[in-house]
Amino acid sequence: MSRILIVCYSRTGNTAMVAEAIGQACGADIERIEDTRHRGGLWGWLRSGREAWQGRSGAIAPVEKDPGEYDLVILGSPVWAGHVSSPMRGYLEGHVGKFSRIALFVTEGGSGGAKAFTEMAALAGSAPVATLELTEKELKSGMQEQLARFVEALDPSA
Ligand SMILES: Cc1cc2nc3c(=O)[nH]c(=O)nc-3n(C[C@H](O)[C@H](O)[C@H](O)COP(=O)(O)O)c2cc1C
Repeated sequence: MSRILIVCYSRTGNTAMVAEAIGQACGADIERIEDTRHRGGLWGWLRSGREAWQGRSGAIAPVEKDPGEYDLVILGSPVWAGHVSSPMRGYLEGHVGKFSRIALFVTEGGSGGAKAFTEMAALAGSAPVATLELTEKELKSGMQEQLARFVEALDPSA
């Protein structure tokens, strides 16, 4: 059976919620990227947006799992200022050459997913087998169909 790892960053829980749902659907291990600096409040919000907009990586805590040991790595990030979040950028920059098969998902207020996917794929050095872009509205109204399509596309035999 193929081994699947989900790696996600989530500042306020949306992306982590999607990671949990994907994990339950496909039986994957989950690694959550943790900040080493506080990102709460207005200043944390502003700093996060600026980092993402400037293409800077955010400081993150060491992770436990080696993505190179997995057949498929599913990477999830919120969209920040139209870009991939800086902690996810930091993770990907710290694991260059570790990804063969990837899939990507983002959560967002309303837009920016396509650019974030392009950035994540370039940083991972691999084209995604599937992508899932979910707005906050879609998260609230249920995401079962999109989730099912995404998980189905992960199956290499499908
Ligand atoms: C600093 C910052 C910048 C954001 N920029 C965007 C954006 O450009 N486009 C968008 O649709 N949503 C944007 N959002 C909203 C988040 O992408 C959205 O709330 C996401 O679901 C948060 O995920 P999380 O709860 O996992 O952190 C931004 C949020 C933050 C904190």
